[in-house]
This record gives sequence, structure tokens and C-alpha cells, in this order.
Amino acid sequence: MTDSVSIEWRDKIAVIWIDNPPVNALSHHVRVGIVERVKEAVDAGAEAAVLAGRGGTFIAGADIREFGKPPMEPMLPEVCDILEATDMPLVAAIEGNTLGGGLETALGCHFQVADAKAKIGLPEVLLGLLPGAGGTQRAPRAIDDPAEALAMITSGKPVSGTKAFEIGLVDAVSQGNTVDDAVEFAKGVVGQDMTDRRLCNQTREMTPEIVAVFDEAMPKIIKQAKGAIAPVKAAECVKAAFELPFREGLAKERETFIELVQSDQSAALRHIFFAERAAAKAPKDVKGEPRTIKKVGVIGAGTMGGGISMTYIEAGFPVTLLEMSDEALDRGLTTIRKNWERGIRSGRVTAEQVEERMALYTRTTDFADLADCDLIIEAVFETMDIKKEVFGKLDKIAKPGAILATNTSYLDVDAIAAQTSRPQDVLGMHYFSPANIMKLLEIVRAEKTADDVLLTALDMAKKTRKQPVVAGVGHGFIGNRMLTPYIRQANLLVLEGATPEQVDKALTDFGWAMGVFAVSDLAGLDIGYKSRADQDLSDDERRVYTIADRLVEAGHLGQKSGSGFYSYDPETRARTPNPEALRIMEEVRREMGINTRTITDEEIIERTQFALANEGAHVLGEGVAQSAGDIDVVYNYGYGYPRWRGGPMKYAETVGLDKVAAKLTEWADGAGGVHWNPSDLLMEAAEQGDGFDGVKA
Ligand code: 3HC
Repeated sequence: MTDSVSIEWRDKIAVIWIDNPPVNALSHHVRVGIVERVKEAVDAGAEAAVLAGRGGTFIAGADIREFGKPPMEPMLPEVCDILEATDMPLVAAIEGNTLGGGLETALGCHFQVADAKAKIGLPEVLLGLLPGAGGTQRAPRAIDDPAEALAMITSGKPVSGTKAFEIGLVDAVSQGNTVDDAVEFAKGVVGQDMTDRRLCNQTREMTPEIVAVFDEAMPKIIKQAKGAIAPVKAAECVKAAFELPFREGLAKERETFIELVQSDQSAALRHIFFAERAAAKAPKDVKGEPRTIKKVGVIGAGTMGGGISMTYIEAGFPVTLLEMSDEALDRGLTTIRKNWERGIRSGRVTAEQVEERMALYTRTTDFADLADCDLIIEAVFETMDIKKEVFGKLDKIAKPGAILATNTSYLDVDAIAAQTSRPQDVLGMHYFSPANIMKLLEIVRAEKTADDVLLTALDMAKKTRKQPVVAGVGHGFIGNRMLTPYIRQANLLVLEGATPEQVDKALTDFGWAMGVFAVSDLAGLDIGYKSRADQDLSDDERRVYTIADRLVEAGHLGQKSGSGFYSYDPETRARTPNPEALRIMEEVRREMGINTRTITDEEIIERTQFALANEGAHVLGEGVAQSAGDIDVVYNYGYGYPRWRGGPMKYAETVGLDKVAAKLTEWADGAGGVHWNPSDLLMEAAEQGDGFDGVKA
């Protein structure tokens, strides 16, 4: 017996309720319960049954926590087969999240009644899997258009109940109480023969038109997958639904599912699924309730401040935007308006909504106008003196209890907080550019930040649909700090003989959205140049960037000047090797007496990726990051890291921390040893063999 599935009788219709909060996942006890209750309903003489979920959600899928553990009968494919084979008509009452195994269970039922607003989909590919309980075979039999079925399964994107009805996936749409409507529907099918309602009995044939659909879609699916295997494998299984009889198609699906569930990619994607949820939770030691935020102040209407303000306005918060002059405000607000207006053409937003949003702004050049704001975020120039001045002013005008946040990307938040008489109200909220698009928010918990201030920042992240990660104070926090050794290795590889194109290609082949040198050119080589000029760097460190510095000195600033490490077509911005950069590289190598050698892509990946993981381990060891998962989330959401590799820390674990540790030791002892500082925490984790969580839970 299991309590998570129960029967409510409505005359002779059995409503079989699934109750497994929070999302009614198909854990083992739920699968057992469904099979038992269906049998009980049949034995008790039910004329029909409705399968429904408690809490406004049908079923959000298989229990992801069970993957990778020993299988427990009955498995979901068997449950779906049992439902389908039942002679008693079964109606799925679909509402809320009906995802993955949830939709497969619904398709195992003979009929589906869906709430118009339900979220219905097969998101397994996003976990590196494919629908493994008949979804790749039943959905293409239910959905009228093979292209729709293929898109749904390979993209993982959900559709509404209304859309599901339009494409033939469900039999009826409910605008009211879905379960009541499903019961009424069930009454209408009592006594009917279910043979033709079973999707397993329906045949699909591969016609020349359908061949053309797959021929057209496959190259796009491979391109969009960017190295992820699941969407491609899923497409092959959907194809099998048209080529093979149902049972053979199912066998292919099963075999592929087992292969995927055991893959590194799926392990990495499941890791990041749980890591992003864990990152959004308050650290264990933090207690209390978030403060109430009704009005937000943003200082700076440039790229960062403008983007940050848009994020809050889009979430419905009125924003007071402060700049030094009316001209700067005009410029900022014009750019903001243009950004939103671009969305009108693509249908993302209406002209009225743009006006409503613009009306939520109050513009000012006077700090005193921020006095009624509950949260004030500073996005001014990245210089400590300027930040200190701003916080000094804020301290004088902000109301008691207002939260004062800095968007600094590197600076010491404790030092900034010390400029105020209320350091408990100060923290970092580090957004990534463009802030209205990029999801990552590093929340920097300073030494004196109050618990409820941290909780408010996490709450605001949720309300503005950002992915938060809590970081500690430290130069560059988590993400930017780790970039330094990563970029350093890329530059060293070029000094030793690789070309920027080779390094970038190895990185994009690995899955990165862009390579180091393409990113440097985009950001502007003068940025790094200026920052190095301001720092007290060792000669060894300066030497690493000699080529980059010479490029700047010769006027190659990157994309903005038409050339940097690459040359850019003025019209298309297409990248080609910059002959001048190649000449400078040779010149620098000659001056340094470097005998260039052939560098393999394997070396490029190892040196750059292990440098990243090693610095991540330092960040973890120093407590700047709370977990390896947090670091992985930062890199996924902020830096274009390939999600299917999990993140830099997960990648190091996948390679094997012992192998990474051995390489770090070898490099630290070798010619470039000065640039390596193997992390004690990584070494310890490698020795213990339980990954980073084994040494830092
Ligand atoms: N299994 C186990 N736990 C799950 C889960 C699942 N399928 N889906 C969600 N959870 C957990 C989350 O980890 C979280 O736990 P926590 O509170 O301990 O952190 C809790 O449920 C609530 O989840 P969210 O915070 O994500 O809640 P939201 O309301 O924001 O989102 C959701 C709900 C849209 C259902 C989202 O959780 C989601 O996308 N879940 C995954 C859905 C999915 O991928 N289903 C397919 C699974 S694979 C499958 O079915 C294989 C089959 O083909 C054989």
C-alpha cells in the first residue's frame, strides 16, 4: 500500500489521485501506487477512471533523483503499458506541469483532457535523456504533424493545453475545473471499446513527405544541439516511430535511453539541474524573512545600470533612475526604449507595454530623490574612489532599512560597506551584461551583510527571474576571478606556438560559446591593457600579455577598431586572422627566444580547463563559493560554458580529479611552473576520490 496514490469515487467513476509533493514526480512508490489503484478500480467495477494530480500539477516527470540508482520495478514503461492495456477507459486530467514521464503517463491513458494553461512537454533532452517511457513512439502517433512531434521532443519546449489540443496531443481542453471536466468526459466514454484508443495499436508510416521533414530537420537539430547528444538520439528514435512497428520502436527507445542515462552528458545536466536550484536557496546559516521591496533605485543609466533597471521594470517594480546629467538620462532612457521597441517587431512585447514600462521610471539627477527607495543598486564607474563616494552619499539620504547594493564586478564590498554607517544593509549584486538578458546574478555577501538583506537579494532574484549564486568577498568573486588563470593559459599557449584561431577553435569545439581571443576582441583589448597598467603585476605575469599589449599599442583594440587578435569585416563582422597580429606574435616570440612547438587541441583544453577548475578549487577552499555546484552554475549562466559538460568543476570530476591533480603537479614542476598554484582542496579531493562534495559539502 502507498498513500501517495488514492481513489476518490464519483459514482462509478474512480478518480485516481497522485499526491507526491512538490511536483508529483513518478517516484517508485507512485508507480507502485498507480498500478495498484488502477487494478483496485477495475476490480471494484469502475466504469472509467480519471488519473489526476494533487496540488494543481498532473505529474512533472520521472523522479530525477532515482536516475543512476538501481532500477526498481515497475519501471515507467511498464506502468504506461499497464494503463494502456486496461479495458476500463482511462482519462488523464492534465493540469499544471505535465512533463516528461508525466506526459508519457497521460499518453498511456486512452484520453486526455487538458487545462488550457497546462504546461505540457517532453523536456528529457534538457537532462541529456530522451522520453524513455514510450514518449518517442506514442507522441508522434498522437500529434498530427510529424514536424511538431519532432520539435517538441528534440527541443524539450513545453506547449499549453490549448496548443496541445490544436496539434492533436490531447482530446479536450478545459477552461474550468480540469478534474471535473475529465470526470464528465469519462462518463461519455463508458462502455466503449478501447482497442483503437491505444496509441500502441496505431500505425505510422514513413512517407516521402515525412522523409523530407526529417531530412530538413536533422542538420538543424545537430547544429542547435552544439555538441549535446540527446536531441540527436531523440530525433533518431522519433524517426523510428515512422519506420518500425510500435514494439520495435519502443525497444530502440529503451536501448537509447539506457545508453543516455549512463552518459557523462546526462550526469552533467542532472548535476546542473540540482545545482541551479541549490544555488537559489539561502545558505544554511542564514535565518529570517526577506525585507519588503516596493521601489528600486538604480544609479547609472549606462549599459549596466540601464539593463539592471529594465530587469526590475519588467518585473513590475517602479525604478528611480539617477544619472549625473539630464543628457546622460536622455541617452540612457532612449537606449532602454529602443531595446524594448525591438521586441515589438518580434512580438515579445506590445507598444502599450513599452509605454507602461517607460511610465514606471522616475528620472533624477539628485540623490535625495532616492530617499523613498527600498533597494538601491549602484552601477557607476568601476573605481573604488567613485564607489566610496556614492555609498557615502547614499548613507546620508537612504531611508532606514533600505538595502544598498553595489554592482561591482571585482572590488572589495567590505571596503564599500565601510563607507556607510550601516554595513549590515550593504551587499554586492553583480549583474552580467546585458543585464536585462543575462540570467546570472552573483550576490556578494559581505562580512557584515545582515541575513535578511541576503534573503531579500535572493528573493529579488526570483522575482526578476535571475539565477542567483551567493559569493563571498574576494577580487572578482567567483566568475571573474576564475577567468584570470584561464585567460592566462590561453595567452601562454599562443606565446608557445598556438594561434589564437587554434585556441578559440579548440574551445568552441569543446562547447564554449566563444573562444578567449574572440571574447577579448569583443570586450576591447584596451580594457585588459588599462587594468594591467593599474596593477602591480610581476614580470612573469606581464610577459604573458606581451602580445596583447603590443596589439593595443599598435592600435588593434579589437572589434571596435576593426582588428585585434583577428581582423573584422566592417559589414559582416566576420573574423579572419589578422596578419599584423601574426607578425607581432612572431616578433614577440623571437624577442623572448621561444622555440615554438606544435600544440595539440588536447593540450589547449587541458591547460585552459584545468586552470579554471584549479582556480575554482581555490575559490571553494577560501569559502568565496559555497559549493562546486555554485561555481558550475556561475559558468553556465554567465560565461557561455557548455551546459552539457556541467561546469568547470563537474568537468574536472568527469575527467577524474586524480588525472587533473597529476597534470597540475606536472605543470607546477615544469617550465611554466610559476603560473601554477595547485589547490590543496583539489589535491585532497583527488586523494579521497569522492569529488569536490566529498571535501566540501
Ligand atoms: N524529479 C525529482 N525532483 C524534482 C523533479 C523531478 N522530475 N522536478 C522538480 N523536482 C524538485 C526540484 O529539485 C525542487 O526540489 P527542492 O525544493 O528540493 O530544490 C522541487 O522539486 C521544486 O522544483 P522547482 O524549484 O524547479 O519548482 P518550479 O515550480 O520552479 O518548477 C518544474 C517546476 C517546471 C516541474 C521544474 O522543477 C522542472 O522543470 N522539473 C523537471 C521536469 C523534467 O525534466 N521532467 C522530466 C524528467 S525525466 C523523465 O521524465 C524521464 C522519462 O521519460 C522516463
